Amino acid sequence: MKDPTMDQFDLAPDYSISRVIRGGWQLAGGHGAIDRTMAVDDMTAFAEAGIITFDCADIYTGVEAMIGDFRMAYAASHGRAALDRIHVHTKCVPDLAILDRIRKSDMTAIIDQSLKRLKMERLDLVQFHWWDYEVPRYIEAAVWLDELRREGKIRFVSGTNFDIPRVREMLAAGVPLRTLQVQYSVLDHRPENGLVAFAAAHGINLLCYGTVAGGFLGERWLGVPEPSEPLENRSLTKYKLIIDDFGGWALFQELLAALARVAARHDVDIATVASRHVLDRPGVAAVIVGARNRAHLPRNLAIGALRLTDADRAEIDAVLARRQGPEGDVYTLERDRTGRHGSIMKYNLNAQ
Ligand SMILES: NC(=O)c1ccc[n+]([C@@H]2O[C@H](COP(=O)([O-])OP(=O)(O)OC[C@H]3O[C@@H](n4cnc5c(N)ncnc54)[C@H](OP(=O)(O)O)[C@@H]3O)[C@@H](O)[C@H]2O)c1
Repeated sequence: MKDPTMDQFDLAPDYSISRVIRGGWQLAGGHGAIDRTMAVDDMTAFAEAGIITFDCADIYTGVEAMIGDFRMAYAASHGRAALDRIHVHTKCVPDLAILDRIRKSDMTAIIDQSLKRLKMERLDLVQFHWWDYEVPRYIEAAVWLDELRREGKIRFVSGTNFDIPRVREMLAAGVPLRTLQVQYSVLDHRPENGLVAFAAAHGINLLCYGTVAGGFLGERWLGVPEPSEPLENRSLTKYKLIIDDFGGWALFQELLAALARVAARHDVDIATVASRHVLDRPGVAAVIVGARNRAHLPRNLAIGALRLTDADRAEIDAVLARRQGPEGDVYTLERDRTGRHGSIMKYNLNAQ
C-alpha cells in the first residue's frame, strides 16, 4: 500500500522509501535534551504522516535504540504489515582509532550491535563511512560488509561521504553500493562536480542531507545580522562554515530572500523550497531532513507536494550563479581533520 501523503521512491521492486527521510542525528545529544518517550511518539507521527523512512547511525548515541523502541511500539499499535513498510537506514562508521588494524570481527560487531538496538533480524540499508583515505583499508572493510549482506544480516550495502575514486574502487571490488548519502543543498553543490553523473551511470541513487543547513535555510535567519560563535548547536556550527564557503552572509541573505519570495508564492516556508530544490535534482531519490521533534513535520510534509516552476528556479539560480563554493568532490573539505570543517568532527564515537 502506498502512503497518499508523501511521494515514494522504489530503491528495489519491493523496497520503497519516502522521498523525505526523517534524520536522526538531532536526537543524539548536541542539539538539546531529548525526552525519549516523546521522541518515540514523534517517530510514530512521522510514520503516520507518510514519512516512513528513518536515518540513523551506529555513532548517533542512543538513536538506534530509540528507533528500535519506536518499531516495537508501531508494530503493537499498527500491526506487522505496517511495520514492514517502515525502513531504517543506519550507518557503519568504524572509529578512526581502529582503521589501521580493523578486522572483519570489528565490522561484524558494529552490525550485530545495530541489529540488537534496532530490534531487527536484518538491517534494511547500511551506509558505510570511512574517516581516513590515508588508511587504505576501506575496500577490505566494504567487502566484509558485503559478506555480512550475503550472510543475511543486511539487505542493502551503501556508502556515505565517499568521493568518485573511492566509489569506483569499491564497485570494482564487487561491492554493490545501492545508494550514496551525501551533503547536497542550495548552498552545497559539490555532488554536481562529477558524482551525480558517476552515480547515475552506475545505478546508484543519492540520499541527501543538509538540505535545510541545520535550520539556517529558514525564516528565522532572514534579515538578521551574521551570528557570532558559539552557535547554539553542532548543526549550526557545521553549516555556518558552508555559508562562509558559499560566499558569506550577504550572499546567503540574498539567497534566503529569493527562497522566501518563492515560498510566499506557494504558501510554504523557506526550508520547504530549499529541500524541494534538491529533491528535483537528477539522481536524487530522497532528502534527509533532521528533526529534534515534530515541530516542523507539516512543513517537511509540504516538500512532497510542492512543485517549483521554471520562474521559481530561475529566481533561485540567479543568486546561485554568484556562489563561490564550496568546491571539490563531496566531503573533501571535511576530510582535512585539522581544517575548519574537519576539526569540529568527533572521530571515535563507537568506543564511548
Ligand atoms: N552521512 C553524514 O555524514 C551525515 C551528516 C549529517 C547529517 N546526516 C543525516 O542527515 C540528517 C539531516 O541533516 P542535518 O543533520 O545536517 O540537518 P538538517 O536537515 O540540515 O537540519 C535539521 C534542522 O533544521 C531545522 N528544520 C527542519 N525543518 C525545518 C523547517 N521546515 N523550517 C525551519 N527549520 C527547519 C530543525 O532545527 P530546529 O529544530 O532547531 O528548528 C532541524 O533540526 C541528520 O539527522 C542525519 O540523519 C548524515
